[in-house]
Amino acid sequence: MSPGAQTIQELPVETSEFAADPAPFLRVAQASHPWLARFSQGYVVHGYQAVCDLLADDANLDCGFGPVIDFYEARGTMWGRFMDEIIMARPGLSEGHKRLRSSINRAFTPRRATEARGLIRQIVTGLLDEWAPPGSFDFADFAAFIPVSVVFGLVGVSTDEIPRLKTALENQLLSVTLDPAAKPLFMAGWDVLWAFADTLVKSRESEGAGEGEGLLDTLIAAKQAGEMDETELRFMLLTLVVGGYDTTKNQLTVTMKLAIEKHDIFEACSKDLKSCAKVVDEALRHTPTVSPYRQVSRDFSYHGFRFHEGDTLVIATPLAGHDPSVFADPEQFDPARANANRHAGFGRGAHICVGQFLAKAILEESLHLIAQRLRSPRIDGEVEWRPFLGAYGLKHLPIAFDV
Ligand code: HEM
Repeated sequence: MSPGAQTIQELPVETSEFAADPAPFLRVAQASHPWLARFSQGYVVHGYQAVCDLLADDANLDCGFGPVIDFYEARGTMWGRFMDEIIMARPGLSEGHKRLRSSINRAFTPRRATEARGLIRQIVTGLLDEWAPPGSFDFADFAAFIPVSVVFGLVGVSTDEIPRLKTALENQLLSVTLDPAAKPLFMAGWDVLWAFADTLVKSRESEGAGEGEGLLDTLIAAKQAGEMDETELRFMLLTLVVGGYDTTKNQLTVTMKLAIEKHDIFEACSKDLKSCAKVVDEALRHTPTVSPYRQVSRDFSYHGFRFHEGDTLVIATPLAGHDPSVFADPEQFDPARANANRHAGFGRGAHICVGQFLAKAILEESLHLIAQRLRSPRIDGEVEWRPFLGAYGLKHLPIAFDV
């Protein structure tokens, strides 16, 4: 055990009580240590500055999924190779990460995100036409269709494919729960997704893609320029589809809950997009949904605390936003907060979310249209949270509203 580890608090991050309301547990942990706690598998980093610094510390921390692959004894499988070689698993200082990152950066600029807003509005309007009339639904189910439809639209794939791929997509993130029962589910889902990517790339290449500005064109052009090989191209396509799916739907659902709990805030979202941008930033400060894992690659000290090679760290972005030394009255959801946009919801450093501008465009446009269409929404049933580790957020948000 590291020196001082006995003085820091254990956080029950695997429990449903913690997922439903981390705040009381966090207050106790903060009283015992300003930025660090323990959990059954290692450490939970909860202080804002420590979260920002350690996310960007590629010299001492490894972001690979090796322990996850080993846990499922999946070395030698295509899924294991995917988990080992995807962009988020590549060391931030490596040639491989820089090469892959620069090949996709051009498809995710703020300008490209702005250009996607028309497509986003069209998709959300169509979904609202379909879902709103009964006056109630589970918002989490509704939200699930938005990001995947947008990414499919950007790739140029028919949304008719979504029902076939939805379960496979949802099952991919089960792997981070380290539950042996999840293995057959995500492995089967992986086969479906790989076949989809392979068929799509082959058919697009046979049509002579690579010239246009679409997402898949950009990836194929990168392959043609020698920036990625055949397998990396397919892995990247799947990374973007999987990476943009659960994260954005969970964040939208959490944002909706926080907004409808305060009628004035939701009302303001119906009036202008600027209010939506503030609400989205504050929700990313209050309850972001991704807590990356890191493994300590060599012994090092951070602010007097000694970490040892092999230690596991959960970098808890949802807790970083509740650091009272940075965010006053952190449990309050207040979109007027001046520094909400300092949130760590998209990470920091070399791995900072490549889709952040697109994600914000999806969240803002969706919230604006939803607030115009679903009037006086109220929670109408039992709210259920997802596990805190992995893809956090709401599993169920049943709502009723006036149309
Ligand atoms: C609200 C929605 C989203 C949230 C909260 C989110 C959060 C994050 C976070 C925290 C990271 C850093 C991971 C790390 O340091 O290990 C990350 C990386 C990444 N995100 Fe997102 N993300 C969102 C949406 C998206 C979208 C829409 C896409 C693409 C369509 C995307 C693609 C990626 C990719 C490819 C990476 C890896 C970047 C790299 O390793 O260089 N994300 N995301």
